Amino acid sequence: MESTRAKIINLLSSNQDSYISGQEISNQLQISRSAIWKHIKELEKDGYVIEGIRNRGYRILQSPNKVSENTVQWGLNTNWLGKSIIHKESTTSTQHIAHDLATNHADHGTVVIADEQTAGKGRLSRAWYSSKNKGIWMSIILRPSIPPYLAPQLTLLTATVLADVLKKELKLNPKIKWPNDILLQDKKTSGILTEMQAEQDRIQYVVIGIGINVNHEPDDLAEDIQSKATSLKIETGKSWNMTELIQQILLYFEKTYEDFLDKGFSVIKEKWESYGYRIGEVTSIKTFHDVQRAVLTGIAEDGALLAKYEDGTIKKVYSGEIDWFGNT
Ligand code: BTN
Repeated sequence: MESTRAKIINLLSSNQDSYISGQEISNQLQISRSAIWKHIKELEKDGYVIEGIRNRGYRILQSPNKVSENTVQWGLNTNWLGKSIIHKESTTSTQHIAHDLATNHADHGTVVIADEQTAGKGRLSRAWYSSKNKGIWMSIILRPSIPPYLAPQLTLLTATVLADVLKKELKLNPKIKWPNDILLQDKKTSGILTEMQAEQDRIQYVVIGIGINVNHEPDDLAEDIQSKATSLKIETGKSWNMTELIQQILLYFEKTYEDFLDKGFSVIKEKWESYGYRIGEVTSIKTFHDVQRAVLTGIAEDGALLAKYEDGTIKKVYSGEIDWFGNT
């Protein structure tokens, strides 16, 4: 159930430039005007700046840039995703917390967020730098009823969600580098780590870890990744409100996930390919014996990347084999 405070935020955010009178809030939410005033004072404690003018009403001047369970939940317009949010100022990895919660029966759609991770995990046992208050470090618990071998589709789905938010909400031009890197101007700004607990033919749960470099200055990026990583701030020259960004990601995720369950992978595949880095282009692909030229044509149902060789054969290829940035 949406809390009264969430309803007030929703009402005020839907009319951003105009005031809503206390009477109208009171009518819509069926609470007294003094109760509204008390809720507004609580919201202000969480960092909202709300202007209240006699005979006109209230409007939000500023939303907090402080991520917390409350700030993410207030104004979150999802039906099931993020109904339970766990926020930590510092933790080893949100993946660890999500696995613990999922093993202890946490609901489908539970979200774990941290301001900082001291042992952030990337793919292939790499470390993921997660400096304090600079980025979004978040894990989503899902309990999908799909067979385990299709779980990679969820990684591709998540990549399209992030690309959509960056394109549609932030007006950027993201690319997805197979399987899961979100690039801006050829540099990585976000990564996805999907982990699951499954039996032979049934998924118990999946944890989707999302890391986004948001408000990093160049010096905030670890030295060894500075040449290949970037942040939203570096690319746009401005700071972003992480609470709003998280809310948008969760909203797009819920919608895309429901579409996927309704209509299948084809919707995701098409979208993924439209964002796919170097899709339709010739690259060099290293095999055991030699290097061959091939066009990256798209992705397969199992999430593999497809390449068409000069002799017309189409094969699945893996990231390590592709010369992504070389001149072909
Ligand atoms: C990659 O590109 O290698 C994947 C990076 C995934 C990082 C995120 S941050 C939130 C979640 N917690 C982790 O420890 N890792 C993922």
